[in-house]
Amino acid sequence: MVSVSVFGVGLMGTPIALTLTQSGFKVMGYNRTAAKLVELDSNGLAVTTDVSQAIAASDYLLLTLSDAKAIESVLLTDAREFTNKTIIQMGTIAPNESREIAKQIEQKGGSYLEAPVLGSIPQAKTGTLLVMAGGDASTFESCLPILKKLGEEPRLIGDVGSAAALKLALNQLIASLTAGFSLSLGLIKKEGVDLEQFMEILRDSALYAPTFDKKLQRMCDRQFADPNFPTKHLLKDTDLFLQASKAAGLNSEGLVGIREIIAQAVENNLAELDYSAIYNVITPE
Ligand SMILES: NC(=O)c1ccc[n+]([C@@H]2O[C@H](COP(=O)([O-])OP(=O)(O)OC[C@H]3O[C@@H](n4cnc5c(N)ncnc54)[C@H](OP(=O)(O)O)[C@@H]3O)[C@@H](O)[C@H]2O)c1
Repeated sequence: MVSVSVFGVGLMGTPIALTLTQSGFKVMGYNRTAAKLVELDSNGLAVTTDVSQAIAASDYLLLTLSDAKAIESVLLTDAREFTNKTIIQMGTIAPNESREIAKQIEQKGGSYLEAPVLGSIPQAKTGTLLVMAGGDASTFESCLPILKKLGEEPRLIGDVGSAAALKLALNQLIASLTAGFSLSLGLIKKEGVDLEQFMEILRDSALYAPTFDKKLQRMCDRQFADPNFPTKHLLKDTDLFLQASKAAGLNSEGLVGIREIIAQAVENNLAELDYSAIYNVITPE
């Protein structure tokens, strides 16, 4: 039986570990904070707070840790080695961070595939994430049986770094579309324009994006609890995009302004809430 250790069983790691277990893989969940292991433990999965044990348990090490710093502190210390191990890195990190981690994993004898995902907890539960992979074709092929249980059509984008860049390009749109919609909705509300008429015209136009309807109710009710994707991660990803776009010589001044809005939301205690809470900063009550 193919064995997979999932590192970082937070919002995404938990449903991913459960989906892989239901798909017939032998899964172990690792987390630094033991309290987050309870759900997997009560579902009969092996769990540990010991990194070495989680590495030893499986051939495939699937990472759903917050960021590159967390990956470095968990996996890239001197003591670790990864002979015959394949690392599948699913968190959202920068292309240069992913390339650096790949280099270190390979120096320690392992194989590395970056496999960031679009979609969130519901898609992780149903195996319908959009999985983008970066790495060599043979590592991708070897990971495919695992990836196919998480997303229907995993795609190999190119070398390590290419899928990380594609993922950041998509998440930049989450920030920009949400900020843009929040601003327009704010004007509609402040001017007392009929909301349904605004939405009907928007839905009929080329400007419409499905995320607008997904977030409309939360914004109208100012209810941002129980997030799938919290504001703090949108700030992280926007910062990663800004770093990458600066290195690429792009003018990202527009996003710099949106980044400040997201940072204000984090300062205003909205960090752990759904990212559409940036509406509260853009359209104050
Ligand atoms: N949520 C989404 O919808 C979504 C969608 C696509 C991609 N992603 C990306 O996937 C990754 C995970 O996201 P998530 O939403 O699952 O985040 P999360 O709920 O915040 O989980 C993050 C995990 O990383 C662990 N961690 C953080 N710093 C650590 C450190 N220094 N040492 C050891 N463990 C550490 C946390 O452990 P503790 O429990 O001990 O803090 C937790 O298990 C992120 O890169 C995110 O951007 C998220």
